[in-house]
Amino acid sequence: MNKEQLVASARSMKSKAYIPYSNFPVGAALLLSDGKVINGVNVENVSLGATNCAERTAVFTAVAEGYKKGDFAAIAIAGDTADYLPPCSICRQVLAEFCLPDMPVYLTNANEEILTLTLKELLPYAFTDLEM
Ligand code: THU
Repeated sequence: MNKEQLVASARSMKSKAYIPYSNFPVGAALLLSDGKVINGVNVENVSLGATNCAERTAVFTAVAEGYKKGDFAAIAIAGDTADYLPPCSICRQVLAEFCLPDMPVYLTNANEEILTLTLKELLPYAFTDLEM
């Protein structure tokens, strides 16, 4: 699976987002090292803080399916924004829990362009160890 295919998978998920409060759809596609793709969407809640972003939905689903730290190869994130849609800071921290610092993160915009960053570029000096 190449990055264009992973981005297409993320984009195709947007219609499943549960977004009654923001009307801001996000889809995510997480590529595992065995080639499987696990998707996620944002799932909002009337108690707004209980909202779960698309990226975390995908990561948590992968963990529930038995994938572990080191099994995560790449993630693509798609929305309807003119600028590249970046993961929120909570999602960056969750990604840092399971993904290597050099894992590619594909950001997209409404023009269907792709910006490739590493997780480390998105979250330098990540907090990953209680024994620092
Ligand atoms: N959201 C995501 O799902 N991922 C992001 O990368 C940014 C924000 C969601 C959370 C909320 O449902 C909506 O977008 C507006 O913040």
